[in-house]
Amino acid sequence: MGQLDAFSLDGRVALVPGGAGAIGSAMAEALAAAGARVAVADRTCRMCDDVVGRVERVGSEAIGIAADMTVEADCDRMVAETIERFGRIDIVVNAVGGGAGKVLHPAETYPRADWDWIMELNVRSTLLATQSAARAMISAGRGGSVLNISSVRANLGINAGYSAYVAAKGAISSLTRQWATEWAKYGIRVNAIMPTFVDTPQVASLLADPTFKAGVVDRIPLGRVGETRDLVGAAIFLVSDASSFVTGQILGIDGGLTATQ
Ligand SMILES: NC(=O)c1ccc[n+]([C@@H]2O[C@H](COP(=O)([O-])OP(=O)(O)OC[C@H]3O[C@@H](n4cnc5c(N)ncnc54)[C@H](O)[C@@H]3O)[C@@H](O)[C@H]2O)c1
Repeated sequence: MGQLDAFSLDGRVALVPGGAGAIGSAMAEALAAAGARVAVADRTCRMCDDVVGRVERVGSEAIGIAADMTVEADCDRMVAETIERFGRIDIVVNAVGGGAGKVLHPAETYPRADWDWIMELNVRSTLLATQSAARAMISAGRGGSVLNISSVRANLGINAGYSAYVAAKGAISSLTRQWATEWAKYGIRVNAIMPTFVDTPQVASLLADPTFKAGVVDRIPLGRVGETRDLVGAAIFLVSDASSFVTGQILGIDGGLTATQ
């Protein structure tokens, strides 16, 4: 066995909630390139179709599943459909979330409706999808690995009306450590990546403001925002056997931003 075989996902099945999104679709493609078969789950099948095609072009198999990650019954069905098609689930990459740039309010008047929306989109979705998958992994007894997407905003404030998002990502980082602690006995590892701004439609409106973008880039030692391709190497490391002694960790993918704070 070659030293790099531990990075291979041959024979593994990965579930990507939010797999039609900018980061989720890049993850789905990379998981497939590393050898996994992939269940791409998002709000509608139509949203998943293109990503299923991208996975198949990489030479793997994929299924598209429509599920609302804030509904427990949908998450259970998503897991059941994945197992029905592929026989197992080894990996979950939680890529539902975001919304940060859409609801910016002063901290002292942050409206409850927008707070609840950001919490549902980021925390409830990750919680319910992971609970359903974890129950299946625990009963199958083969272990597994979960990758959450937190954000540097879990650790850093930003003077731009981000109260709900920083709280949501703080929760994702905390749950990453909590689940790693509770599920180690089942051989389930749980880690997260913590990107800074990634050039995606979600943050396009924020980054379109040249003053805002210059302020962001100025604080990043490597002098640019992230690209989705910057995330996939770390993701493959964290979900594969290459990281078999790594759990409960939150890896900054931020061009050095958090190193400066
Ligand atoms: N883009 C960035 O700059 C950035 C930076 C740090 C962290 N992140 C995090 O990365 C993750 C993915 O972000 P993205 O930029 O790819 O966003 P995106 O909007 O492109 O992808 C999110 C996907 O989740 C799906 N989704 C939303 N609610 C859902 C629900 N209830 N049920 C099922 N699917 C649902 C959407 O349809 C979408 O396809 C988020 O958690 C985000 O907070 C993004």
